[in-house]
Amino acid sequence: MTIRVAPVGLSRLAAGDSACRAGAYIDDFQLTVDCLLTLICQNGNMTEQSLWMQQVAKDPGHSQWYVERFRTMEREGKDVVGEARFIDAMAARGSRILDAGCGAGRIAGYLAAVGHDVVGADVDPVLVAAAEKDHPGPRWLVNDLAELDLPACGIDEPFDIIVSAGNVMTFLAPSTRVTVLRRLRAHLSDDGRAVIGFGAGRDYPFDDFFYDAKSAGFEADVLLAAWDVRPFTADSEFLVAVLRPA
Ligand SMILES: C[S@@+](CC[C@H](N)C(=O)[O-])C[C@H]1O[C@@H](n2cnc3c(N)ncnc32)[C@H](O)[C@@H]1O
Repeated sequence: MTIRVAPVGLSRLAAGDSACRAGAYIDDFQLTVDCLLTLICQNGNMTEQSLWMQQVAKDPGHSQWYVERFRTMEREGKDVVGEARFIDAMAARGSRILDAGCGAGRIAGYLAAVGHDVVGADVDPVLVAAAEKDHPGPRWLVNDLAELDLPACGIDEPFDIIVSAGNVMTFLAPSTRVTVLRRLRAHLSDDGRAVIGFGAGRDYPFDDFFYDAKSAGFEADVLLAAWDVRPFTADSEFLVAVLRPA
């Protein structure tokens, strides 16, 4: 099931409604920037628009370009599920897994296909539509992670694993980073793990991330420099952080 939003649905959004409860469920992805801003300013609390959606606002073709990039890689037989295999290796069979910032669904799709109970959430409706089309299995939601409230969407149980791969952290609005990490913590079971991967040189220094993760209630369990399990060092150009609730 996909929750979709479109301009004509906005009149139905009352203060306090989340996108998933608003009934704005329309097959139309012509979202305007104003609509997105309206959605993420629920209850009068302004949430800064994600850097990703700011990029989409400047270049409306960006999302479809991103979708086609992964479709092409898959057609060419490239490995686009390395992160998902890492998560699968950590997970008991039939785990509850949230892909936070799922994009066009390559990771959540794989994890559902190998038998996990998967939810994919992403702020970009074009990517979520592609995920639903290309990867049946997970439950797909259009949702800003800074506003994540899955119980309000009828998803009450916490997750065993939350994965956020592909630089999602660096596409958040900087003002929402700690809030997003807190929302992820709130959706994780007490013995669950969150696995977050992103690269250096993207305006989110790893030390700031460690500080933010601690502020949000996480402890670092394992730090790696890549999804192929190389150890993290002070010089690493990439971070895969396996976090547990503090
Ligand atoms: C480079 S893409 C990675 C997508 C996917 N994780 C993957 O690895 O294929 C970054 C993603 O972060 C998502 N994103 C950025 N800020 C977000 C937010 N505040 N809430 C939800 N998703 C967000 C974007 O919509 C985009 O899909």
